Amino acid sequence: MSQDKILLPGLIDVHVHLRDPGQTTKEDFISGTKAALAGGFTTIVDMPNNAQPITSLEKLEEKITIAKGKTLVELGFHFGSLGDNLDQFPGVSDLAIGLKLYLNKTTGGYLLDIEHLRKIYQAWPEDKVVLLHSEEDTIDLALESLRGLNRPVHICHMPSKEVLEKIIKAKRQGYNLTCGVTPHHLFLSELDTGRIGDHAKMLPSLKSERDQDYLWENFDQIDIVESDHAPHTLEDKVGGAFGVPGLETTLPLLLSAYKQGKISIEQIIDKCHTRPKEIFNLEPEDYLISIKMESYELDPSQFFSKAQWSPFAGMVVPGKVSQVTKSNQVIYSGGEFLINPGEGKVIYGK
Ligand code: NCD
Ligand code: ZN
Repeated sequence: MSQDKILLPGLIDVHVHLRDPGQTTKEDFISGTKAALAGGFTTIVDMPNNAQPITSLEKLEEKITIAKGKTLVELGFHFGSLGDNLDQFPGVSDLAIGLKLYLNKTTGGYLLDIEHLRKIYQAWPEDKVVLLHSEEDTIDLALESLRGLNRPVHICHMPSKEVLEKIIKAKRQGYNLTCGVTPHHLFLSELDTGRIGDHAKMLPSLKSERDQDYLWENFDQIDIVESDHAPHTLEDKVGGAFGVPGLETTLPLLLSAYKQGKISIEQIIDKCHTRPKEIFNLEPEDYLISIKMESYELDPSQFFSKAQWSPFAGMVVPGKVSQVTKSNQVIYSGGEFLINPGEGKVIYGK
């Protein structure tokens, strides 16, 4: 157990909100991809709920052009839909990694009428993933909408026993489903909300300790870990914004679970590299992450993310990324970036 150095392949996070363009006081492609690299994530996929949602080819192309000049990692994009842009699908399906649909209200007021679901499934290429934000009140409808279909669907951020139980059951019945979990739902429960206050506000919300235990007990039924990195300015956060930054805390938190004997390094590799790569058809280049096992306190003022706060501030964790290499060339070392913004690349769907 007392290894002082751990080597991992470049980690993959298919659920981040980098806010660029439109809300670059919260984050942008430079700060967000620096946060990714420093946190061990060399491939990330950005969500479409920008200030102006990414629901047209024009908006997606604009986002890609901006990202090309700024990214330090492999950065892909999910496309969005409210059911009224199906004519855009043929143009974007080679560019986007997946299609994100919100069945529950979230940041940006981006709610899809469930009636549109079937129509959307028919229009989106049938081998490309649809991602659903679906909580306790919409999961039955979401599963019902998939009956008899074989298209891949990924249900984001399992918050509770109720949702995960239904997904495990549907998977056993042969639905082509995968699901993810966030570190905040694994490491926090509603019991922490009093202590943490505004910084514990996110969607889906934190649930009971019983729910949290169920997520751990069924960790192997959950395909991937997704950070749902959702940065906000401190002012917006105190003003009630939902979402927490996660790119620089996900790996340290998972390492603490490893240290406690709750999970193995193989499970971290499986859920943060192998499975996301398979599910989203990604072909990342050859990255290696070196981790120094040395305990320290999580200090958000040291984040590369513009969100200099975290529900995990002050938590003692057992290790951090010390170096990242790409094809044996060092690109990050001890807080220094050895590549410039724009030297990462935009990745596309297949
Ligand atoms: C996300 C955001 O701020 O964009 N917020 C959140 O609480 N998770 C939206 C989302 O992931 O649905
Ligand atoms: Zn999200």
